[in-house]
Amino acid sequence: MQPEERAVTGVPGFDAMLRGGFLTRTANLLEGAPGCGKTTLGMQFIHYGATHGEPGLILTFEQFPEQYYRDAAGFGWDFRELERRRLLQVIMSSPEVTKADLERFNGRIAGLVSNMGVKRILVDSISQFERMTDDPVELRNLLHGFLNALRREGLTALFTREAYVLLGDEQREEDETEASMSFLVDSYVLLRYVEIESAIHRAIIVLKMRGSAHDTHIRQFDIGPHGLVVQEPFKGREGILSGTPQYMAESFIKAFVRR
Ligand SMILES: Nc1ncnc2c1ncn2[C@@H]1O[C@H](COP(=O)(O)OP(=O)(O)OP(=O)(O)O)[C@@H](O)[C@H]1O
Ligand SMILES: [Mg+2]
Repeated sequence: MQPEERAVTGVPGFDAMLRGGFLTRTANLLEGAPGCGKTTLGMQFIHYGATHGEPGLILTFEQFPEQYYRDAAGFGWDFRELERRRLLQVIMSSPEVTKADLERFNGRIAGLVSNMGVKRILVDSISQFERMTDDPVELRNLLHGFLNALRREGLTALFTREAYVLLGDEQREEDETEASMSFLVDSYVLLRYVEIESAIHRAIIVLKMRGSAHDTHIRQFDIGPHGLVVQEPFKGREGILSGTPQYMAESFIKAFVRR
């Protein structure tokens, strides 16, 4: 039997949560509040691939490529150089153009996949794509078509998605598109801010991963000079940090369980 193929993310601690990385040729959703580190994790995944024999694409509907070059440079990742070496390409497009491109035989993305040997794609973010229609059924079909087109190209895809909830215990509306996106993808990872003892910490949890075991702990992570670093689960620290483990457990449940 072939060993499972994994796309190592290169994010310390996160690969262990995924039992080695994302399964290759899958669609993976990374959801989180503004500024919590979605783009950084995505760039780290693409940078690791590009420097380990798996060229990547960054597809954006919002930010200019310059912003990625600059943000990446802040973590010591030279995206311009990787582009020169044909290991990376940042593409700014619109959801409509992207959809048409993927439906065309030998479109731009398919061309890059075959010419550069692209294996990974970061779509930052899927939220623009979701604005293409208000009809939930049509949207589900659109997303399904998009995810499948990327799988068909043999890509391991990471989609970021904004969640408009800052802290875990804010009330939120469950919206239709969010529900459909999280069902369509192969894995679903959440980034959250968690308030502990009046300080804000960043937390990460793998909510689902088709075809693989995964860590079910809620872990703290930091964004340091070389990107994200995932730490130990919060669990072991409960007593130390708060002295009120009961309260802690409650706040975590509030942070992560949808109502
Ligand atoms: N060079 C750096 N070193 C350490 N931390 C950094 C560095 N650059 C950015 N950060 C941190 O990363 C955070 C931004 O992360 P990122 O842009 O990945 O978030 P995001 O979830 O994509 O946000 P948005 O929802 O706005 O797209 C900043 O708030 C900052 O705290
Ligand atoms: Mg971002």
